[in-house]
Amino acid sequence: MTTASSAQPVALERAYLLLNHGPTVLVSTAHGEERNVMAAAWAMPLDFSPPKMLVVVDKSTYTRELIERSGEFALCIPTRDQARATYVAGSETGRGTDKFAACGFATFAASRIGAPLIEGCLGWLECKVVPEPHNQQVYDLFIGEVVAAWAAPDAFSGNRWHFPQAGRRSIHYLAGGSFFATGEGFSVAEPQ
Ligand SMILES: Cc1cc2nc3c(=O)[nH]c(=O)nc-3n(C[C@H](O)[C@H](O)[C@H](O)COP(=O)(O)O)c2cc1C
Repeated sequence: MTTASSAQPVALERAYLLLNHGPTVLVSTAHGEERNVMAAAWAMPLDFSPPKMLVVVDKSTYTRELIERSGEFALCIPTRDQARATYVAGSETGRGTDKFAACGFATFAASRIGAPLIEGCLGWLECKVVPEPHNQQVYDLFIGEVVAAWAAPDAFSGNRWHFPQAGRRSIHYLAGGSFFATGEGFSVAEPQ
C-alpha cells in the first residue's frame, strides 16, 4: 500500500503522463469542513505547460458543488485493487455521509490544495480550476491547472509507468461495474 510518505513528486511538465493512457480517476474535493470523492471516467490531459486536465463533473453531484465552491479538486488514480471502492464512489452521493469511510479510503494532505489525496492510489494531480463558465454550465466540463503532481514509485518513476503487480494496475471503465485493467505495455520503432 502506497502511503503519503512514499508519494514522489512528478515534474509538472510530465504530469500529463499520469492520465495519457486514460485511466478512470477518483475526483476528491473539500471546502471548509466538507469533503467528498466521486469516480470519473471522463478525464484527460489538455495541455503540457502549464499542465491542464479536463474532467466532466455532472451538475447533480455533490463533487460539482464542492469544486464550484472551492475552485479546486484532485484527480487520484486508483488501482485494480481499489476498483470495487471506485465503483461505490461512483454509485452513491456523498451528500450527508462520509463517502471516504463508505469506500474504505484513507487520505493524506495535498501540498497545494485543500482536497485530500487517497492512499494506495498510483498517482495524484492537485488541480486549481481554470474558470470557463460556459463550458462548465453547458458541458459540465472543468479545466484544472495542475499545481502539483505525485506518483507511487512502484508504479511510475523516471516518467514511465511500470505496473508491477496485477492488483496495482490502473483501471478503465466500461459500464455497470465492469472495468478493464491496464494491459501489457509494448513499444514500437520510432518513425524514420
Ligand atoms: C466508474 C465510474 C465512472 C464515472 N465517471 C463519471 C464522470 O466522468 N463524470 C461524472 O459526472 N460522473 C461520473 N460517474 C458518476 C459519479 O461518480 C456519480 O454520480 C457519483 O455518485 C457522484 O457522487 P457525489 O454526488 O458524491 O459527488 C462515474 C461513475 C462510475 C461508477
